[in-house]
Amino acid sequence: MKLVISKSYEEGARRVASHIAAAVQKRKDLLLGLATGSTPVPVYRCLAEGNARGEIDFSEARVVNLDEYVGLAKDHPNSYHRFMRENLLDAVGIPDSRFTIPRGDAPLEEELARLNAFAAQNPIDLQLLGVGANGHIGFNEPDTIFPDGYHAVTLAQGTIQDNARFFDNPESVPTMAITMGIGTIMRAGEIILLASGENKREAMRALLEEGDVTPAVPVTALKLHGNCTIYLDEALAKDIAVAPYITVE
Ligand code: F6R
Repeated sequence: MKLVISKSYEEGARRVASHIAAAVQKRKDLLLGLATGSTPVPVYRCLAEGNARGEIDFSEARVVNLDEYVGLAKDHPNSYHRFMRENLLDAVGIPDSRFTIPRGDAPLEEELARLNAFAAQNPIDLQLLGVGANGHIGFNEPDTIFPDGYHAVTLAQGTIQDNARFFDNPESVPTMAITMGIGTIMRAGEIILLASGENKREAMRALLEEGDVTPAVPVTALKLHGNCTIYLDEALAKDIAVAPYITVE
Protein backbone atom coordinates (compact mmCIF):
# COMPACT_ATOMS: atom_id res chain seq x y z
CA MET A 1 0.00 0.00 0.00
CA LYS A 2 1.18 3.50 -0.83
CA LEU A 3 0.08 6.74 0.84
CA VAL A 4 0.25 10.05 -1.05
CA ILE A 5 -0.21 13.15 1.11
CA SER A 6 -1.18 16.38 -0.63
CA LYS A 7 -1.32 19.93 0.76
CA SER A 8 -5.06 20.16 0.15
CA TYR A 9 -8.02 18.03 -0.88
CA GLU A 10 -8.15 19.90 -4.23
CA GLU A 11 -4.50 19.06 -4.93
CA GLY A 12 -5.11 15.42 -3.97
CA ALA A 13 -8.10 15.29 -6.35
CA ARG A 14 -5.92 16.69 -9.16
CA ARG A 15 -3.30 14.01 -8.49
CA VAL A 16 -5.94 11.29 -8.52
CA ALA A 17 -7.21 12.65 -11.86
CA SER A 18 -3.66 12.56 -13.27
CA HIS A 19 -3.24 9.00 -12.00
CA ILE A 20 -6.46 7.94 -13.75
CA ALA A 21 -5.60 9.90 -16.91
CA ALA A 22 -2.21 8.16 -17.13
CA ALA A 23 -3.90 4.75 -16.86
CA VAL A 24 -6.44 5.64 -19.58
CA GLN A 25 -3.67 6.91 -21.86
CA LYS A 26 -1.72 3.70 -21.35
CA ARG A 27 -4.63 1.40 -22.07
CA LYS A 28 -7.41 3.07 -24.04
CA ASP A 29 -10.08 0.40 -23.44
CA LEU A 30 -9.41 -0.07 -19.76
CA LEU A 31 -12.28 -0.85 -17.40
CA LEU A 32 -12.42 1.94 -14.86
CA GLY A 33 -14.32 1.28 -11.63
CA LEU A 34 -15.81 4.52 -10.28
CA ALA A 35 -17.56 5.80 -7.17
CA THR A 36 -20.17 8.45 -6.44
CA GLY A 37 -20.57 10.74 -3.40
CA SER A 38 -18.96 14.15 -2.83
CA THR A 39 -15.33 13.06 -2.69
CA PRO A 40 -14.69 12.23 -6.36
CA VAL A 41 -16.55 15.26 -7.79
CA PRO A 42 -13.39 17.42 -8.31
CA VAL A 43 -11.61 14.37 -9.77
CA TYR A 44 -14.35 14.05 -12.38
CA ARG A 45 -14.19 17.80 -13.06
CA CYS A 46 -10.42 17.54 -13.75
CA LEU A 47 -10.95 14.53 -16.01
CA ALA A 48 -13.70 16.33 -17.96
CA GLU A 49 -11.48 19.40 -18.33
CA GLY A 50 -8.54 17.28 -19.49
CA ASN A 51 -10.80 15.61 -22.03
CA ALA A 52 -12.09 19.00 -23.27
CA ARG A 53 -8.49 20.14 -23.76
CA GLY A 54 -7.84 17.00 -25.81
CA GLU A 55 -5.39 15.59 -23.23
CA ILE A 56 -7.37 12.50 -22.18
CA ASP A 57 -9.10 10.23 -24.64
CA PHE A 58 -12.10 8.33 -23.28
CA SER A 59 -13.28 7.13 -26.69
CA GLU A 60 -12.72 3.45 -25.81
CA ALA A 61 -12.71 3.56 -22.00
CA ARG A 62 -15.34 1.55 -20.16
CA VAL A 63 -16.80 2.41 -16.75
CA VAL A 64 -18.38 0.27 -14.07
CA ASN A 65 -19.83 1.81 -10.91
CA LEU A 66 -19.85 0.43 -7.41
CA ASP A 67 -23.42 0.91 -6.35
CA GLU A 68 -26.95 2.23 -6.79
CA TYR A 69 -29.95 2.81 -4.54
CA VAL A 70 -32.64 0.13 -4.73
CA GLY A 71 -35.86 1.63 -6.07
CA LEU A 72 -34.40 4.57 -8.03
CA ALA A 73 -34.72 4.50 -11.82
CA LYS A 74 -31.69 5.64 -13.80
CA ASP A 75 -33.08 9.13 -14.52
CA HIS A 76 -34.20 9.80 -10.92
CA PRO A 77 -32.50 13.04 -9.74
CA ASN A 78 -30.77 11.17 -6.88
CA SER A 79 -29.78 8.05 -8.77
CA TYR A 80 -26.09 7.29 -9.04
CA HIS A 81 -26.62 6.66 -12.75
CA ARG A 82 -27.71 10.28 -13.14
CA PHE A 83 -24.86 11.46 -10.89
CA MET A 84 -22.32 9.76 -13.16
CA ARG A 85 -23.94 11.15 -16.33
CA GLU A 86 -23.95 14.70 -14.91
CA ASN A 87 -20.53 14.66 -13.27
CA LEU A 88 -18.47 12.81 -15.86
CA LEU A 89 -19.93 10.55 -18.53
CA ASP A 90 -21.82 13.11 -20.63
CA ALA A 91 -18.84 15.46 -20.57
CA VAL A 92 -16.35 12.83 -21.76
CA GLY A 93 -18.72 11.08 -24.18
CA ILE A 94 -19.07 7.63 -22.57
CA PRO A 95 -22.39 6.12 -23.78
CA ASP A 96 -24.48 3.62 -21.78
CA SER A 97 -23.05 0.83 -23.97
CA ARG A 98 -19.69 1.38 -22.21
CA PHE A 99 -21.18 2.05 -18.77
CA THR A 100 -22.32 -0.57 -16.26
CA ILE A 101 -24.10 0.36 -13.02
CA PRO A 102 -26.74 -1.49 -11.01
CA ARG A 103 -30.29 -0.72 -12.16
CA GLY A 104 -32.12 0.31 -9.02
CA ASP A 105 -35.58 -0.34 -10.43
CA ALA A 106 -34.91 -3.77 -11.99
CA PRO A 107 -36.09 -7.05 -10.41
CA LEU A 108 -33.41 -7.61 -7.78
CA GLU A 109 -32.41 -11.22 -8.38
CA GLU A 110 -32.23 -10.76 -12.16
CA GLU A 111 -30.18 -7.61 -11.73
CA LEU A 112 -27.71 -9.29 -9.38
CA ALA A 113 -27.32 -12.15 -11.87
CA ARG A 114 -26.68 -9.66 -14.71
CA LEU A 115 -24.08 -7.76 -12.67
CA ASN A 116 -22.34 -10.89 -11.45
CA ALA A 117 -22.10 -12.25 -15.01
CA PHE A 118 -20.56 -8.92 -16.04
CA ALA A 119 -18.11 -8.98 -13.12
CA ALA A 120 -17.04 -12.55 -13.90
CA GLN A 121 -16.10 -11.59 -17.46
CA ASN A 122 -14.83 -8.06 -16.98
CA PRO A 123 -12.06 -7.63 -14.43
CA ILE A 124 -11.63 -4.03 -13.31
CA ASP A 125 -8.29 -2.49 -14.26
CA LEU A 126 -8.41 0.52 -11.94
CA GLN A 127 -10.95 1.10 -9.17
CA LEU A 128 -11.48 4.52 -7.57
CA LEU A 129 -12.96 4.45 -4.06
CA GLY A 130 -14.25 6.90 -1.50
CA VAL A 131 -14.87 5.79 2.06
CA GLY A 132 -17.81 6.21 4.44
CA ALA A 133 -17.32 7.69 7.90
CA ASN A 134 -17.98 4.16 9.22
CA GLY A 135 -15.35 2.67 6.91
CA HIS A 136 -17.70 1.35 4.24
CA ILE A 137 -16.43 1.00 0.67
CA GLY A 138 -19.07 0.81 -1.99
CA PHE A 139 -22.04 0.19 0.29
CA ASN A 140 -20.37 -2.69 2.11
CA GLU A 141 -21.37 -1.63 5.60
CA PRO A 142 -19.53 -2.64 8.80
CA ASP A 143 -19.99 -6.04 10.37
CA THR A 144 -21.17 -7.78 7.25
CA ILE A 145 -19.01 -10.47 5.73
CA PHE A 146 -16.71 -9.52 2.84
CA PRO A 147 -18.85 -10.96 0.05
CA ASP A 148 -17.84 -11.58 -3.51
CA GLY A 149 -20.02 -10.35 -6.36
CA TYR A 150 -22.82 -7.80 -6.25
CA HIS A 151 -25.34 -8.03 -3.44
CA ALA A 152 -28.22 -6.08 -1.91
CA VAL A 153 -27.60 -4.35 1.41
CA THR A 154 -29.55 -2.47 4.04
CA LEU A 155 -27.82 0.86 4.56
CA ALA A 156 -26.49 1.70 8.01
CA GLN A 157 -28.47 4.42 9.83
CA GLY A 158 -25.39 6.71 9.78
CA THR A 159 -25.02 6.26 6.01
CA ILE A 160 -28.67 7.17 5.47
CA GLN A 161 -28.15 10.31 7.59
CA ASP A 162 -24.91 11.21 5.75
CA ASN A 163 -26.60 10.85 2.38
CA ALA A 164 -29.74 12.78 3.37
CA ARG A 165 -27.89 15.97 2.34
CA PHE A 166 -28.46 15.05 -1.30
CA PHE A 167 -32.23 14.58 -0.93
CA ASP A 168 -34.98 17.25 -0.57
CA ASN A 169 -36.60 15.24 2.17
CA PRO A 170 -34.68 12.96 4.59
CA GLU A 171 -37.61 10.51 4.47
CA SER A 172 -36.99 9.84 0.80
CA VAL A 173 -33.42 8.50 1.24
CA PRO A 174 -33.58 4.86 0.14
CA THR A 175 -32.73 2.35 2.84
CA MET A 176 -31.36 -0.33 0.52
CA ALA A 177 -28.70 -0.42 -2.18
CA ILE A 178 -27.06 -2.83 -4.58
CA THR A 179 -23.30 -2.79 -4.16
CA MET A 180 -20.27 -4.47 -5.64
CA GLY A 181 -18.92 -6.82 -2.97
CA ILE A 182 -15.52 -6.45 -1.38
CA GLY A 183 -14.26 -9.62 -3.10
CA THR A 184 -14.91 -8.03 -6.50
CA ILE A 185 -13.40 -4.70 -5.47
CA MET A 186 -10.29 -6.53 -4.26
CA ARG A 187 -9.84 -8.24 -7.64
CA ALA A 188 -9.32 -4.88 -9.37
CA GLY A 189 -5.80 -4.73 -10.80
CA GLU A 190 -5.22 -1.44 -9.05
CA ILE A 191 -7.13 0.56 -6.42
CA ILE A 192 -7.05 4.27 -5.61
CA LEU A 193 -8.81 5.67 -2.55
CA LEU A 194 -9.35 9.39 -2.01
CA ALA A 195 -10.49 10.65 1.38
CA SER A 196 -10.80 14.04 3.05
CA GLY A 197 -12.53 15.43 6.13
CA GLU A 198 -12.44 14.91 9.86
CA ASN A 199 -15.26 12.34 9.74
CA LYS A 200 -13.00 9.97 7.76
CA ARG A 201 -10.18 9.98 10.33
CA GLU A 202 -11.12 6.83 12.27
CA ALA A 203 -11.58 4.82 9.08
CA MET A 204 -8.21 6.01 7.76
CA ARG A 205 -6.57 5.19 11.08
CA ALA A 206 -7.90 1.65 10.91
CA LEU A 207 -6.56 1.33 7.36
CA LEU A 208 -3.17 3.01 7.70
CA GLU A 209 -2.07 2.26 11.26
CA GLU A 210 -0.88 -1.18 12.31
CA GLY A 211 -3.81 -3.46 13.00
CA ASP A 212 -5.91 -6.27 11.64
CA VAL A 213 -8.24 -6.49 8.70
CA THR A 214 -11.72 -6.46 10.22
CA PRO A 215 -15.32 -6.48 8.96
CA ALA A 216 -15.97 -3.85 11.66
CA VAL A 217 -14.17 -1.39 9.33
CA PRO A 218 -14.58 -2.73 5.76
CA VAL A 219 -11.94 -0.42 4.23
CA THR A 220 -9.28 -2.38 6.17
CA ALA A 221 -9.66 -5.09 3.48
CA LEU A 222 -7.44 -2.87 1.31
CA LYS A 223 -4.50 -3.77 3.55
CA LEU A 224 -4.42 -7.03 1.59
CA HIS A 225 -4.37 -5.47 -1.89
CA GLY A 226 -1.02 -5.49 -3.66
CA ASN A 227 -1.45 -2.32 -5.74
CA CYS A 228 -3.37 0.26 -3.75
CA THR A 229 -2.70 4.00 -3.36
CA ILE A 230 -4.41 6.13 -0.72
CA TYR A 231 -4.62 9.90 -1.37
CA LEU A 232 -5.10 12.07 1.73
CA ASP A 233 -4.61 15.75 2.47
CA GLU A 234 -2.30 16.94 5.24
CA ALA A 235 -5.20 17.85 7.52
CA LEU A 236 -6.49 14.28 7.51
CA ALA A 237 -3.08 12.57 7.51
CA LYS A 238 -1.80 14.40 10.58
CA ASP A 239 -2.02 12.31 13.77
CA ILE A 240 -2.23 9.04 11.81
CA ALA A 241 0.67 6.79 12.89
CA VAL A 242 1.26 5.27 9.45
CA ALA A 243 2.44 1.64 9.66
CA PRO A 244 6.09 1.16 8.65
CA TYR A 245 5.27 -1.16 5.75
CA ILE A 246 3.36 1.61 3.94
CA THR A 247 5.36 3.77 1.49
CA VAL A 248 4.62 7.47 2.06
CA GLU A 249 5.08 9.97 -0.75
C1 F6R B 1 -20.47 5.68 -3.42
C2 F6R B 1 -19.65 4.87 -2.53
C3 F6R B 1 -19.50 5.24 -1.09
C4 F6R B 1 -18.89 6.63 -0.91
C5 F6R B 1 -18.81 6.97 0.56
C6 F6R B 1 -18.23 8.36 0.79
O1 F6R B 1 -20.44 5.13 -4.73
O2 F6R B 1 -19.12 3.90 -2.96
O3 F6R B 1 -18.70 4.28 -0.46
O4 F6R B 1 -17.61 6.65 -1.48
O5 F6R B 1 -20.08 6.91 1.13
O6 F6R B 1 -19.11 9.34 0.33
P1 F6R B 1 -18.67 10.85 0.27
O7 F6R B 1 -17.61 10.96 -0.77
O8 F6R B 1 -19.91 11.61 -0.13
O9 F6R B 1 -18.17 11.21 1.63
